Amino acid sequence: MSLLSMEGICKSFYGVPVLKNVNLTLEKGEVHALLGENGAGKSTLMNILTGVLPKDQGRIVFDGKNLESITIRQSEELGIAFVHQELNLFNDLRVYENIFLMKEYTKGLGYLDKKRMITEVKKLFDELGAKIDPEERVENLKTSQKQLLEISKALFFQAKLLILDEPTTSLNNDEVAHLFGIIRNLKKNGTAFVFISHKMPEIFELSDRYTVFRNGEFVGTGLIRDTSPIEITGMMVGEKYTEQSVYEKRELTDTVLELENFTGEGFQNVSLSVKKGSIVGFTGLQGSGSSELMQGIFGSIPVYGGQMKVMGRKVANNRIHLAMKSKVAMLAANRKENSVIPDMDLLENMYLSEHTLSALKPVISVKKEKERFEKYRKMLSIKANGSSDRITSLSGGNQQKVFLARWLNTDAEILLLDNPTQGIDVGAKAEIYRLILELAKTGKTILINTLEIPEIQKVADTCAVFYNGNIVKILEHDEIDEVTVMLYSTNAAGDAATVAV
Ligand SMILES: Nc1ncnc2c1ncn2[C@@H]1O[C@H](COP(=O)(O)OP(=O)(O)OP(=O)(O)O)[C@@H](O)[C@H]1O
Ligand SMILES: [Mg+2]
Repeated sequence: MSLLSMEGICKSFYGVPVLKNVNLTLEKGEVHALLGENGAGKSTLMNILTGVLPKDQGRIVFDGKNLESITIRQSEELGIAFVHQELNLFNDLRVYENIFLMKEYTKGLGYLDKKRMITEVKKLFDELGAKIDPEERVENLKTSQKQLLEISKALFFQAKLLILDEPTTSLNNDEVAHLFGIIRNLKKNGTAFVFISHKMPEIFELSDRYTVFRNGEFVGTGLIRDTSPIEITGMMVGEKYTEQSVYEKRELTDTVLELENFTGEGFQNVSLSVKKGSIVGFTGLQGSGSSELMQGIFGSIPVYGGQMKVMGRKVANNRIHLAMKSKVAMLAANRKENSVIPDMDLLENMYLSEHTLSALKPVISVKKEKERFEKYRKMLSIKANGSSDRITSLSGGNQQKVFLARWLNTDAEILLLDNPTQGIDVGAKAEIYRLILELAKTGKTILINTLEIPEIQKVADTCAVFYNGNIVKILEHDEIDEVTVMLYSTNAAGDAATVAV
């Protein structure tokens, strides 16, 4: 008997069907990839299984029990753990308190057994290769640490089924390898996994079987070893998918951004010159300084020294609004913490940055705003009913597109994009690369920070590899490949200080 069988599941939101009669079957000890484009219904199905949302119709049998209706608590008690797509932590609690919330260990007289909780969390972090202090407050953690904590929370209470909804979006290769090692070990003991990801290499490395949804419908299921990334992508998008190369070499002359001995929180003495209309990839291991440098340029983290010039003019550091005024925009990593304003609708979320820039203009034309919204909706294929939808009603990938629109809408000259394709499906990723190239051709300058080297290979003119807070190598387009990048980002090529930039 299967561990889980979901049959004929239907779900509508406000009369709009988003799951139409879908099926999913899981066996013990398997990793099952649940695949589909942004908005296909993957997270919604998992929310139904774990009691976050009620189903409209269908049958769910888990571990021999028929689940007519289920609460979050009951699903946990049945042995289902869920790592949500967006972080779900209490920032003002400590790390270990987040893990043990409502499940605290106690000793005599109901006192909390803090020591035992901390010791056990430490053990799990060691296995995961996570360098996190269990007593740290969550608000002080980096995004990758938060994601590891989120995963630890689920791993801690031995579940029969673990749902991982895009668990690796901010992890580095090493952290992913540790996580996959733990998953493989747990599989041996019979734990089953639902693995949701838009990263094909990961899907093929880890999964045993797959199920594909398209637009809320079940498309197919099978063994991973009998299929290929191209075939799976075809099933997801509904047509034969061929990967096209995007890159075009362009003539670049003027300099638009210059950094001289730029030093701040997490980077030191960075000197860099960026040409107008170019696309520059930033990469490096977590903490290498690439994301921090972007934040420093944008003024969102402290800068201590050095100088920055935009279009030949010196820009004062540490002020986001000054960066924005000098036509610098930044799409930050980790949308839930840095981008989503949950109480606002799509239009307001999209216009937030533009309103900051035009704050002194007395009149807002909602009609014009809606027209622009429509333009971006088409340009980025945002799946939403209308501009008055709540941002939280959009799937993760579609939210990400709204935030990209937020910054395109400011008409900035320099776009800093930190992990811009977080949670974006393969088809839409290709669209975004094409858009980035089009923007560059019109003279916009784009810096992209990502751990995905193929992403940089597809669009970038040059790739700056970071190590230990500085750029250790700038690779030209033809030199960019995973092995070379890895060599520099681990400093295997020699002492960072001696490599010329
Ligand atoms: N609370 C909600 N209210 C209204 N619509 C919703 C709500 N939650 C999800 N939807 C809609 O349901 C559809 C499926 O969303 P879901 O989040 O399941 O997609 P997904 O497959 O997880 O996509 P992604 O890969 O982008 O995370 C989307 O069109 C989304 O807008
Ligand atoms: Mg989702």
